[in-house]
Amino acid sequence: MKWLSLILSCILPSITRSMHTFPPGFLWGTAASAYQTEGNNTKNDWYYYEQTEKQKPAAKRKLAGECGQATMQWQNYEQDYDIAQKMGVKIHRLSIEWSRIFPAADKPDMEALAIYKKQLISLHQRGIKTIVCLHHFTIPIWVLHKGGFLNRDYFLAQFKQYLEVVIPFLAEEVDYWLPINEPNIVPSASYLIGMFPPFKKNIFQYLRVYRLMIEMHAAAYHVIKRQNKTAPVGVAFAYMHFQPFNAKNKWQQCLSYLSDKWANRIFFEAVVNGRWAFPLGWGAAAPDIKGTLDFTGLNYYTTLYLKNTGPVPFKKGDVITDMGWVVYPKGIYAILHQLFKITNKPIIVTENGTATTDESFRIDYFKSHLTEIHKAMSEGVPVKGYMAWSLTDNYEWQHAYSKKFGLISVDPISMERTLKKSGWWYKEVIEKNGL
Ligand code: BGC
Repeated sequence: MKWLSLILSCILPSITRSMHTFPPGFLWGTAASAYQTEGNNTKNDWYYYEQTEKQKPAAKRKLAGECGQATMQWQNYEQDYDIAQKMGVKIHRLSIEWSRIFPAADKPDMEALAIYKKQLISLHQRGIKTIVCLHHFTIPIWVLHKGGFLNRDYFLAQFKQYLEVVIPFLAEEVDYWLPINEPNIVPSASYLIGMFPPFKKNIFQYLRVYRLMIEMHAAAYHVIKRQNKTAPVGVAFAYMHFQPFNAKNKWQQCLSYLSDKWANRIFFEAVVNGRWAFPLGWGAAAPDIKGTLDFTGLNYYTTLYLKNTGPVPFKKGDVITDMGWVVYPKGIYAILHQLFKITNKPIIVTENGTATTDESFRIDYFKSHLTEIHKAMSEGVPVKGYMAWSLTDNYEWQHAYSKKFGLISVDPISMERTLKKSGWWYKEVIEKNGL
């Protein structure tokens, strides 16, 4: 008997591992964004704030450094896509930088747009599908100077002008559209907690910007559908996982419930049910916004604990990443179920990954999250793909280059690319279609 249990304990883990096979056609992918990788983007609000922050004494700066030339992806994309192809990547996510297409009002730079199209073609030539995001955090300086996100009518008119130029031009090379990256994070990081430019802490502005982001999403949806009725349109949504710091504390349970409603669900109330739910509104109908989601893209990294006094990012004893975020794979499992319940739509994980310089840590992070995704799928949640964040190390917003999320490292001087241990591991996962 003792022998039998010993043999079983050796064999069972490998059987369980081999059970994490994903369905045929599962979209194994990588993700990146324009500003974080392209380099020499000097026409947007982040660039503008990097310059103004630079004038302040070091201790007062809210941004750790400048984006500068990033990975010079604009010049080096062929190299990056060669490595992605070598990894066996099935889909790659990238974004279009609004300020490259419109460095100034009214005059699109068609040469820049043509380079995006070349990138999409070169992905397709490598057998890699494309998923294109139209807004990943940044806005042109000239829009900023007219009030930016707070000047709704002007902003929407200019954003629509951008959409009308970009969407028809790129449409035939785009397999999936993501109009907006994290329509809930831009308002909260920039206007509620003051972490991103313009570093505001104003709940009314937060709500205005959140509403505008939903309108931006819907505007893009309609332009895309006018171009091609069957093009799948989603969103890259950072569905925040909240939990009470003390699981039994009723008030903290209540805070978690309300935070979920006010940070996450209001978005889906609008785009799925066409309703401006509180606190975005008092329940008024939003017919133009209703039904503007074909699939949900989920960006997931961590959980947030809620104490009576507010959120805390981790507890004593938690495993945390270089961002100071808890590793909490169960959260993605819970959210996948919840999202499917709310939307009844297929899901693509559009971002998941960790900042670390320890490759075993990164691999474990991916493994634990993919295991939970697999579990949710085996229970009926239709997850169609998974995008590791990020293809390369890149500019990590307020932290500049101090955080490493990439499967590929990039030498900041020579720009030489090297596939990391986690990249080789991911290649194997893709080959085996599972882990
Ligand atoms: C953003 C990425 C960012 C990542 C890690 C996501 O919220 O979309 O641009 O690099 O988180 O912080």
